[in-house]
Amino acid sequence: MLGQLEKLKQNALQELENIASAAKLESWRVHYLGKKSQLTAILRSLATLPLEERKTVGSQANEVKTALETSLEEKGQLLREAKLTAAGEGHIDITLPGRPFPVGGLHPITQTLYEIYDIFASMGFQVVEGPEVEWDYYNFEALNIPDEHPARDTMATLWVDFETEEGKRPMLLRTHTSPMQIRVMEKMEAPLRVIMPGKVYRYEASDATHVPMFYQIEGLAIDKDITMADLKGTLYEFARRFFGEDRKVRFRCDYFPFVEPGVEMAIECLVCNGSGCRLCGNTGWIEILGAGMTHPQVLKNGGFDPEVYNGFAFGMGIERMPMLRYGIDDIRLFYGSDLRFLRQF
Ligand code: PHE
Repeated sequence: MLGQLEKLKQNALQELENIASAAKLESWRVHYLGKKSQLTAILRSLATLPLEERKTVGSQANEVKTALETSLEEKGQLLREAKLTAAGEGHIDITLPGRPFPVGGLHPITQTLYEIYDIFASMGFQVVEGPEVEWDYYNFEALNIPDEHPARDTMATLWVDFETEEGKRPMLLRTHTSPMQIRVMEKMEAPLRVIMPGKVYRYEASDATHVPMFYQIEGLAIDKDITMADLKGTLYEFARRFFGEDRKVRFRCDYFPFVEPGVEMAIECLVCNGSGCRLCGNTGWIEILGAGMTHPQVLKNGGFDPEVYNGFAFGMGIERMPMLRYGIDDIRLFYGSDLRFLRQF
């Protein structure tokens, strides 16, 4: 029986050599490995053999079976490849290299935003976004900036008045992210800690330090016992994480109608480290954000009782951050779509 198996194997492999179609390969499989094949018959008859013979014949038969199955597999693969090559002949050049698959990258401003989200997220702030086309009410009115208030002049506004049945309702492209303070207060309960990033617009000509569209991140925290120390601690931690452990910060009084008291935060100049240079106008300091304790009237406008709750808010321009960090001297580079600039980040 061993001789029989050996012969079977040789015949099968020899026949396989000459097979050139999938149909023939299938008949070969049925003939040599199918249910009615000689090999299957031998394997079935093993049980009737004496023990010793069963062992030798058994292992030999299994070896033949594996050999045939492997060869079948290989032949099938060869036939499939040959078919593909034949199909491509004259039509496609399968030796051509593949099409390039260029990988994009995140815009430096997006990278900066993500980095700042991470820093504030680690202090328990969540991210909330809102509309860029905004009602006058949220952008000015609810933030203590009524009509005729001089603060309106500091932010040249792009108006897009909204026509209603009763007449025009003043609408605009938001000039800062502060309107989101009111929107968040209307929707959320205290205690709350949020940052509100997004695009803002000013009706201004472009130059090295101005573009008509830029990014801000607003921050707002409301709870029962918030103090100026919470504001300073939060912003100090931010500056340390973003600009480095040893970077000094300075708070000074400033005025914004929606906070009281209001402050501006500056960091020690990154170019001269405080000794005075052109970048910092010889002051040694660079202002990076405005902030303050939420004005009681603004809390009321947002639906919070200022006798019970208080909070702090801050707002910062984003482009300035990578400009300071990398020494970029023209804000327009971010929006010029020049890949030679953008690819560096
Ligand atoms: N919205 C102000 C600006 O654009 C910044 C600011 C936000 C100041 C929050 C105080 C509190 O200049």
